[in-house]
Amino acid sequence: MVNEADKRTWHDLPKEKYLKPLIFHDGRLAIRPNAVSILTVFMWLPFATLLALIRIILALSLPYKISTPILVFSGLRLRVKQPNTPISNTKGLLYVCNHRTLLDPLYLSTALGRPLTAVTYSLSRMSEIIAPIKTVRLSRDREQDANIMEKMLSQGDLVVCPEGTTCREPYLLRFSPLFAEMNAEVVPVAMDANVSMFYGTTASGLKCLDPLFFLMNPFASYNVEVLNKINISSTCHDASVSSVNVANQVQKELGKSLGFECTRLTRKDKYLILAGNEGIVNSGCKS
Ligand SMILES: *[C@@H]1O[C@H](CO)[C@@H](O)[C@H](O)[C@H]1NC(C)=O
Ligand SMILES: *[C@@H]1O[C@H](CO)[C@@H](O)[C@H](O)[C@H]1NC(C)=O
Repeated sequence: MVNEADKRTWHDLPKEKYLKPLIFHDGRLAIRPNAVSILTVFMWLPFATLLALIRIILALSLPYKISTPILVFSGLRLRVKQPNTPISNTKGLLYVCNHRTLLDPLYLSTALGRPLTAVTYSLSRMSEIIAPIKTVRLSRDREQDANIMEKMLSQGDLVVCPEGTTCREPYLLRFSPLFAEMNAEVVPVAMDANVSMFYGTTASGLKCLDPLFFLMNPFASYNVEVLNKINISSTCHDASVSSVNVANQVQKELGKSLGFECTRLTRKDKYLILAGNEGIVNSGCKS
């Protein structure tokens, strides 16, 4: 039994005092549900749907130079940091970023001001259709994926998120080493995103609504920090340096730049915890 006087001193437990670190969670609501916030959410919903549609149409129909300021005005904040020495572009560059939402490749394209091709592990058909940049689906078959990526790299710049799935909290999942086996120059990109009302990611819900929920936020902020190019050829001609080491090195570098903690967790761990399956994605809406 707790008396009223005791209750008044209760407060939210800070994250660092949790018994176990909170790494994975699911659900759409990004704010603590209380009477006022829930009322606000319901009053916002009709505008939100309209706003999301307008944002999608703007992003699809206008060139970056025109659409970006309008989208920023609509509440989608974007902060970009680039290295002082511009990245010289000899052949296809491989941008390797951590994965916050499925809009990561889009925000990077916007930040760089030119369309990139995104290679993705899991993207619903709906997202593929409304994506304003080219997307290529990977098969999770090592050899086949390597071939796909080599081919795309010979045609231009690529962006890949080797975590394979999104993470909402300040942690980095294990980086799949495939990208480090490509004969390409790797540019690590640190991504961070915050939403004000709805999460644009889900493990057990309807994936096709992810972009919609993200764009329904009154405000959503994104930080994109392009780091210095790393020279894989110089680390890899030493045969003892494997692609796994390179992947770990990139993960560490991104973790340092973001202030995020690196973990060995994988996509499989996330889906086992959140959805009770191994996260095998079919091409439909549900996964
Ligand atoms: C998101 O919120 C965290 C904690 O409040 C903050 O440290 C971080 O800079 C924010 N990121 C963005 C992209 O706004
Ligand atoms: C990358 O490493 C190779 C081999 O060590 C070297 O020739 C090249 O200049 C390096 N490139 C950069 C950008 O450091």
